[in-house]
Amino acid sequence: MTRKALLGVLAGEALATPPIWLMRQAGRYLAEYKAVRTQAGSFLDLCYAPDLAVEVSLQPIRRFGFDAAILFSDILVIPHALGMQLEYREGEGPVLSTVRSREDIAALRPEGLEDRLAPVYDAVRGLAAALPKTCTLIGFAGAPWTVAAYMVEGKGGTDHANLIRWAWRDPQTFGELMGLLVDVTARHLIAQARAGAEVVQLFDSWAGAAPEGLFHRLCIEPVAEIVRRVRAAVPGLPIIGFPRGGGAQLRRFATETGVSAIGIDQGTPLAWVRRQVPAQTALQGNLDPILLAEGGPPLDEEVDRILGTMRGAPHVFNLGHGIRQDTPPDHVAQLVQRVRTRAR
Ligand code: CP3
Repeated sequence: MTRKALLGVLAGEALATPPIWLMRQAGRYLAEYKAVRTQAGSFLDLCYAPDLAVEVSLQPIRRFGFDAAILFSDILVIPHALGMQLEYREGEGPVLSTVRSREDIAALRPEGLEDRLAPVYDAVRGLAAALPKTCTLIGFAGAPWTVAAYMVEGKGGTDHANLIRWAWRDPQTFGELMGLLVDVTARHLIAQARAGAEVVQLFDSWAGAAPEGLFHRLCIEPVAEIVRRVRAAVPGLPIIGFPRGGGAQLRRFATETGVSAIGIDQGTPLAWVRRQVPAQTALQGNLDPILLAEGGPPLDEEVDRILGTMRGAPHVFNLGHGIRQDTPPDHVAQLVQRVRTRAR
């Protein structure tokens, strides 16, 4: 049997037709997702109901035939499992209790985390059993810096001033929070791999908010340590890093973390990154999610340009960030069709 397309590319192979999946491919742009979400009650209930989480993970696979399914969950189940309050408010996004002091860190409960996240691993097992055999199962977690951003700020959409001031002011205490997150994140990924995830991705959505003087300590070292721990437990596991907005830091990120692939946002030129990182490091991305929502001939032209740029190199077709809620599903079908017919 030949290797699944995504696994080949993550091992450094350049394929004539790149595998394709989309970040946040299960979600509110699909009517069938909204129906299951309503049935579940709340978004968090959906995350902790293995059968329903399996169902919504499979919806985009059935509709579009993607090369990979990503576990349906959220990066914020980690703070939730650590004992923080978490609520998703309509139109506002996640709202959490905050961690801003040594006492707040001491109140977090890392022990027994895998027991509280057992429904997530059940969903991974269910998905592994249900997937078509050419489809790769991706598990994930947030990178420590991005998860810390939500834990310290208590919500998204801020300028991260509380977070960044703490990181500058008191590297020692902030480092304790990051160390705790490195530990639980590595454990969470190892548990997903043992339940059947074939690849894991670390989402560092706010890497671009880290100032130059903190980037190495906050966005490279923690990810490097997680990669070491996960690979020590699960040798050879392919790992995708997504330090969104990491631009000029990507060369160091690639060489020092040892990830198999890097997710590239839509603002960063693929051809330039290609020259920065080792040849066997795969690149994932970087179609503009707004263009996918827009559709039409400019979408086809941009797909062709991206394919041309990455010809002959290990490439996973994806967006530069998660799919938008206002994306017509027909545009996703158009994208998949274009990638599969136009590639080389
Ligand atoms: O990719 C997938 O389909 C798998 C599931 C997945 C979700 N969130 C489901 C979700 C993944 C991989 C994530 C990652 C995630 N979650 C990130 C990193 C990627 C990124 O977008 O930067 C972040 C920052 C979060 C935190 C989070 N979760 C936010 C900021 C929000 C609100 C934004 C929104 O779209 O409402 C969520 C909620 C969330 N996570 C939804 C989904 C499908 C929408 C919840 C709903 O159904 O109302």
